[in-house]
Amino acid sequence: MTSYLITGARLLGGDPTDLLIEDGVVSTRATGATAGVEVVDATGLVALPGLVDLHTHLREPGREDAETVLTGTQAAAMGGFTAVHAMANTDPVADTAGVVEQVWRLGREGGYCDVYPVGAVTVGLAGQQLAELGAMADSAARVRVFSDDGRCVEDAVLMRRALEYVKAFDGVVAQHAQEPRLTEGAQMNEGELSGRLGLTGWPAVAEEAVIARDCLLAAHVGSRLHVCHVSTAGSVELVRQAKASGWNVTAEVTPHHLLLTDELAVSYDPVFKVNPPLRTDADVEAVRAGLADGTIDCVATDHAPHALEDKESEWASARPGMLGLEQALSVVVATMVETGRLDWAGVADRMSVRPATIGRLTEHGRPIAPGEPANLVLLDPATRAVVDPAGLASRSRNTPYAGRELPGRVVATFLRGEPTVLDGKAMK
Ligand code: DOR
Ligand code: ZN
Repeated sequence: MTSYLITGARLLGGDPTDLLIEDGVVSTRATGATAGVEVVDATGLVALPGLVDLHTHLREPGREDAETVLTGTQAAAMGGFTAVHAMANTDPVADTAGVVEQVWRLGREGGYCDVYPVGAVTVGLAGQQLAELGAMADSAARVRVFSDDGRCVEDAVLMRRALEYVKAFDGVVAQHAQEPRLTEGAQMNEGELSGRLGLTGWPAVAEEAVIARDCLLAAHVGSRLHVCHVSTAGSVELVRQAKASGWNVTAEVTPHHLLLTDELAVSYDPVFKVNPPLRTDADVEAVRAGLADGTIDCVATDHAPHALEDKESEWASARPGMLGLEQALSVVVATMVETGRLDWAGVADRMSVRPATIGRLTEHGRPIAPGEPANLVLLDPATRAVVDPAGLASRSRNTPYAGRELPGRVVATFLRGEPTVLDGKAMK
C-alpha cells in the first residue's frame, strides 16, 4: 500500500502542517524519511475529514440509466465524500435484507466511497405494512437508517411502530415530511409566485405538520427521529423546540435549500423542480441560521439523478429532484463559510462528524489524527469555477448549478489512505 505525505495542509483551516498516511491510517511517525512515500503538495489547501452524506439516491438497482453505485460514488468522491447513505427508493425497493445487501456489496466491490444502504420503513414504500427492519439491521449491510424517502410515512401508527422498532438496534427513522393531501398535485412552493405562475402550491404547513407530529411521536416513544431536507423557517423552529425539550430529533438541510429560492421557477425549467420545493428568501435565511447554530445538524445532499427524458419535459410532468454530491461542499463554502456563518471546523462538524454520528458510522466522521482511518478531503477554497454539467461524474445532468460560479475545488479525497480523487481527477 502506497504511503502518502501530504505537505502544508491547513487542518480544519488551521496552520499548515504535514500529514503522513500509512497503511490506511494517519500515521504517528515523525515526518522526515520520505523514501517510497508519495508526496502530495497541499500548500494552501484545507484538510477536512471525509464528508458523509446521509441522503443520496444512487438509483441502483432499477434505474441504472440515471445513476449506478459506480457513477454515484464517483460523483461523491469528486465532491469530497468518503461515505454515502443510499436511499431505499430503488426498483426493487430496498425493503429486505437481500436488497440492502446487494447495494452494500456493489459499494464494497466497485465504489469510490463507502455505501451504507438505507432501509425502507414500509414494504414497497407503500405505507401499508412495516418492512423487515430487524432483518435489514442484522444483515451484512447493518442498516441503521430507515426511510421511505420520496414518500412520507403518513400513517401515524406505522410511524410510531417504526420508531419503537428501531430502538432495539439504535436505529433512526428519517422522515420525508410531506402531508400527502395538502400536496396533491403540488408543483412548487405555495405563495404569491405559485399563483402568478399557475403552478399548484406546496405549502410550508404540509412539511411542518408532519414534523410536529413526528417530533411528538418520537418523544412519546423515546426514539430517534431524523428529519430529511428541512426547507422552511417554521420547520427549523419546530426542530429547535424539539431539541430544547430534550427530544432525540436531528435534521438535515440540502445544499439547494441553502442557496436557491422559488424565484427560479419563473424560468419553468424543470431542473428546479424538487421535493420539498425551493422556498423563499426568508426560508433560506432561516435554514442557514439553523445550520449555523446547530439546530439543523447536518448538510445532506438529496442527490437525485434523473434521466434526460424524466427531466426535460414540461414542468408538471417532470420528476422532482436535482444533483447535489459534486457541488455540495462548494455551496456550503458559498453560503456558510464566505458569509462568516461557519468556520472550517463547523463545516467538518456539519458535513462529516454529525452525519456519521446520526448514521452510527464508526469509521467516518473521525478527526484527522494519528491512528485514525485516513478518510479526508483536500479543498482549495480560493478557486472559483463555473459549473459545467458536461464535466460531472454523475451519469445524470440535472444540476441546478449549471452556469453558476461557485467557490472551492476538491483537489483530493482519500478513503482509508487511498486516493479516490487526486489532482481533481477520479482515480482507478
Ligand atoms: O426531489 C426529490 N427527489 N425528493 C425526494 O424526496 C425524492 C427524490 C428522488 O428520488 O428523485
Ligand atoms: Zn425526500
